[in-house]
Amino acid sequence: MRDKIVLAYSGGLDTSISIKWIQEKYDFDVITMTVDVGQGSNFKDIEEKSKIIGAIKHYSIDAKEEFVKNYIFRAIKANALYEGKYPMSAALSRPLIASKLVEIAKKEGAVGVAHGCTGKGNDQVRFDVTIKSLEPNLKIIAPIREWDLSRDEELKYARENKIPLVFEKNKIYSIDQNLWGRSIESGPLEDPSNEPPEDAFEWTESPESAIDKPEYLTIDFREGIPCAINGESLEAVTLIENLNNVAGKHGIGRIDHMEDRLIGIKSREVYECPAATVILEAHKDLEKTVLTKHELSFKKLVDDQWTFLVYSGLWMEPLKEALEVFINKTQERLMGRVKVKLYKGSLRVVGRSSPMSLYNLKLATYASSTTFDQTWSLGFIELWGLPTKAANVLKRNRKKRD
Ligand code: ARG
Repeated sequence: MRDKIVLAYSGGLDTSISIKWIQEKYDFDVITMTVDVGQGSNFKDIEEKSKIIGAIKHYSIDAKEEFVKNYIFRAIKANALYEGKYPMSAALSRPLIASKLVEIAKKEGAVGVAHGCTGKGNDQVRFDVTIKSLEPNLKIIAPIREWDLSRDEELKYARENKIPLVFEKNKIYSIDQNLWGRSIESGPLEDPSNEPPEDAFEWTESPESAIDKPEYLTIDFREGIPCAINGESLEAVTLIENLNNVAGKHGIGRIDHMEDRLIGIKSREVYECPAATVILEAHKDLEKTVLTKHELSFKKLVDDQWTFLVYSGLWMEPLKEALEVFINKTQERLMGRVKVKLYKGSLRVVGRSSPMSLYNLKLATYASSTTFDQTWSLGFIELWGLPTKAANVLKRNRKKRD
């Protein structure tokens, strides 16, 4: 009996030729595994294709709910936007897929696992570090990284090995998608001075052609997590799917930015993340309503560190767990309703309310009903400005003497 390898299989060209290549080069049997994180693939077709190419067994795992509850929800609580822009859709899914690889490898008594990452990106780091942290003795095979074939060579290998190629030949873009967003790379996007062509987008209407009518939504949060839209409680996966549709229709969630990959390469990245864009904006606004200014300024540092660790493949890092203790503490009070307005590619928060709000109308109002005693401010200003005033007086006096 041959040793076994479990391959994370998407059904695309890279992982399809990987099945054959692992069999030929390493003489292992290949078990394929596809994890449903909301990419909307046809999982029956993927299973069939894997068998045709020669996998001895296939697993299809529906992990949508786990993905939302254990990965996306944490990212929401941490306001996770890498470099202020990217909601980390791909970054969040990799540790989940890696953990499933390890789980099945153990169950099947496999000697190792495999994935289709290249040697140029972040995903290889996310897979490998998570796998090594969970099971250091597993062999990791990354055929595309080891083999280094051009796309044409890959297509040639596929043809020679009778690997079915559906729509692969004219594919211009490299796509990765799940519930939290869709990433679009290569082709004309590799020139950062080109505006992304309209055909790069699938989840979002272009703002120009989006319906000419604003739509209001309310989003309710409990303990930092979105739980209802327009007052209707929704199950986690459905809530995100619905928001992707509604916000996408209004052209919301297109992202185009220059991104610093972990391995040092700058790349132009294009995403469409309608639900993530709306939820993160609403969540951040609610935090500003509920948390103190001191909590907010410290939490920003914690959020940035959490985001950096996750982007950089360190999902398993103990620091991340420690940061989450702080984050979760702040989210205990994070409940309330945020109203957003969607219109032709623009998203605006236009209202918020919360039983935990620190906003106090009696203090804030300019009307005569205020309870704020303005004479308090005089003493405060004296003390607050004391060091600044002293430094400037000294500076002027010294200048006069010179
Ligand atoms: N630049 C993004 C990231 O590192 C997107 C990666 C998409 N992955 C892919 N295999 N196409 O998270």
